[in-house]
Amino acid sequence: MVDLRREQQATLARPRMQYGLKARLLFWGMDLLYGKPLTLRKAQVLEILARIPYQAWEIRQYLRLTRLYEDAASVAWSRRVTSWTRAAQDNEFWHLLVIDERMRQTGFRKSWLWDRWLPRVAVCKYRLFSRLLCLFSIRSAFHLNAEFEDHAEHEYMQFVADHPELDEEPVDSAVVREQGQFATWGDVFRSIGLDEREHMNNSLAFCGLPSVAGAASPVVGGTPPAGEAGESGTAG
Ligand SMILES: [Fe+2]
Ligand SMILES: [Fe+2]
Repeated sequence: MVDLRREQQATLARPRMQYGLKARLLFWGMDLLYGKPLTLRKAQVLEILARIPYQAWEIRQYLRLTRLYEDAASVAWSRRVTSWTRAAQDNEFWHLLVIDERMRQTGFRKSWLWDRWLPRVAVCKYRLFSRLLCLFSIRSAFHLNAEFEDHAEHEYMQFVADHPELDEEPVDSAVVREQGQFATWGDVFRSIGLDEREHMNNSLAFCGLPSVAGAASPVVGGTPPAGEAGESGTAG
């Protein structure tokens, strides 16, 4: 049984990663549009965007398999990536459903501009960026995602710290129960933060880098084979 409060403290005590220019530009843009602190509206947009890199990597691997199905190392690598990205996408989609459920239960009135139109523009741009980045260097794409996931983990854990009232609110939601039983909404958001840590650790593992935080579940990964998106590593 994971002690969610202890994991939250571990996140808040751990310094954030040293974010690169691409990550800092995206965070800056999001803060400019949606404000610095995490809100339900901002979390909704982040979760809409969160699946896009995984989708881009999955599409890329299926395209590679059409060409390289006779190469055992490439097949093994692509299968590991697609298996991970499918699971991660589903998990990110559950986060989106949970945020939407929370908005509904708290009577949040969605805006056409901030909750629908702007996210759709962001999706178009981010989809193009993600497809191009993984064509250029899949390792760079994984590393950038690790930075996003580290940021998301810290943001969710800080969100719970900033809203102690969440620990007084019991959960009554079929959507939330899909992933387990949670006593309060505080624990739901802590659990989402922990999922983001797992996404970060797996993204680092696929770069061939060690985890930067305690993994709550086994880390998957492996270094890209030679020839994958400009990489020159050995088959893994
Ligand atoms: Fe997420
Ligand atoms: Fe994530």
